[in-house]
Amino acid sequence: MPTNAELQARRDSAIARGISNQLPVFVARAENAELWDVEGRRYIDFAGGIAVLNTGHVHPRVKAAVAAQLEAFSHTCFMVTPYAVAVELAEKLNRLVPGSGPKKSIFVTTGAEAVENSIKIARAHTGRSAVIAFGGGFHGRTFMAMALTGKVAPYKAGFGPMPGDVYHAPFPVPYHGVSVQQSLEALEHIFKYDVEAARVAAIIVEPVQGEGGFYVAPPEFLQALRRLCDQHGIVLVIDEIQSGFARTGRMFAIEHSGIEPDLMTLAKSLAGGFPLAAVVGKASIMDAPGPGGLGGTYAGSPIACAAGLAVLEVIESDNLCARAEVIGATLTGALRELQREIPAIGEVRGLGAMVAMELVRNRDPHAPDTDLTKALVKRAAEKGLVILSCGLYGNVIRFLVPLTAPDAIVREGLAIVAESLRELTGAVTRAAANG
Ligand SMILES: Cc1ncc(COP(=O)(O)O)c(C=O)c1O
Repeated sequence: MPTNAELQARRDSAIARGISNQLPVFVARAENAELWDVEGRRYIDFAGGIAVLNTGHVHPRVKAAVAAQLEAFSHTCFMVTPYAVAVELAEKLNRLVPGSGPKKSIFVTTGAEAVENSIKIARAHTGRSAVIAFGGGFHGRTFMAMALTGKVAPYKAGFGPMPGDVYHAPFPVPYHGVSVQQSLEALEHIFKYDVEAARVAAIIVEPVQGEGGFYVAPPEFLQALRRLCDQHGIVLVIDEIQSGFARTGRMFAIEHSGIEPDLMTLAKSLAGGFPLAAVVGKASIMDAPGPGGLGGTYAGSPIACAAGLAVLEVIESDNLCARAEVIGATLTGALRELQREIPAIGEVRGLGAMVAMELVRNRDPHAPDTDLTKALVKRAAEKGLVILSCGLYGNVIRFLVPLTAPDAIVREGLAIVAESLRELTGAVTRAAANG
C-alpha cells in the first residue's frame, strides 16, 4: 500500500488544487467514529465527513440496506422507470418535516442541487425572481448556491459574474455585535434600497450556520422571518443540509424555533455517506414547476434512498436525538472548562451536538486567531484526531461527532483537543510554572 506522502504527491499532480484536502491522511477503512489511514494509523473522527455521518461510518444497518438494494438493481433513473424505495423515503420525509398541511418531496444528488432546486421551485410558485440570503451563510458551490453563499473567499472569488437578484442581510451574531433587531432592520433596508418585497421569491436561511461558524439563529429571529414571509408572500427556505437529522437534538434544527418552513433543503446525513439530497415542502409550492422542470439522471439513486430509509430507522430506534443532547452536553461542558484555563477560547456555543469553539486573541471577539486554529487542526491530527475548522475568518473549530460514537471515544477525542490546545498556547508551561 502506498504511503500518505506518496499518495499526496500523486494527488497533487493528478487532482486540481481547487479541491483542497485539510489533512494528508489517505483513508483505508472506517467504522463508526474511527478511521484508519493507509499506513495503519488510527484516527478518531470528529469531522464526520462534514456532517454526513450522524449515524457513523458504514452503520451496519445502512450497509445491509445498501447491499440488499444492490442485489436488486442500482440504477434505472427515476425519471424513466421509478421505484418504491424513493416513494417510501419521500413519504417518510413528508411526515417528518414540520408543517401540518400536505407535503411533497423531490430527490437530487448534492446539497447545492437541493438549494438550486428550492429557488427554482420558489420562483415558479411566486412568479418572482429576487432571493435574500445571509452573510456568512453557505449554500454550495454551483452558481445559484454560490451566489447565495455569504462568503467571498474562497467560494466566489474569481468566479463571477454571479446570478443576479440575490441580496444579503447580516446574520444575527450577538458575539460579534449583530443583534436580531439589526438583522431585521437590514432586511427592511434591502426592501427600501434594493428590491421591493413584492418581487422577492424566497428568503433562504440556515437555522444554525454551518460553514459560517456554527452560529445559532435565535428562535425569535426565525419567527420574525416567518412573519415577514407570510406578510409579503415570500417562500421561506430553511437550509438544514448541515443541521438536520438529529444533529441538534431534534430531527431538524428548525424545530427549536417552532416555525414551519415553506421549503426545506436536506442532504449530508440524510443517507449516511451516500450522495442524496432533497427538497421537502408544502405540496402547493412543490408542485409549481411543470412536469420535466425538475430532475437529474442520478436524482434519487435507489442505493442512496435505501441508505436514507435505514438512516431514518437508526435515528429513531437508537434515539439519536437524545444521544445528540448527551454528546452536546459532554462537548460543551469540557470545552467551557477548558475555556476558563485558555484565553484563546473566545466562545463555546452550540445546539445539541452541533458544537463549536471560536479561537481569538486575548478573549477579544474581534481578533480571530486563524493561525492557532490551523495549528490545532494539524496538531490534533498528529495525535490521532480529525477535527474541522470553519467560520468567516477560519477561526472556529466545529465538532461533528457521529451521534453513534461511544462515550469513551468522545472523551478520548476531547482529551486530544485539550492537550493540543495546551501545548499550542503554552498553557502547559504556565500550569507547570505555577504549580
Ligand atoms: C448548509 C449547507 N447548504 C448547502 C451545502 C452544499 O452541499 P453540497 O456540498 O452537498 O453541495 C452545504 C455543504 O456544506 C451546507 O452546509
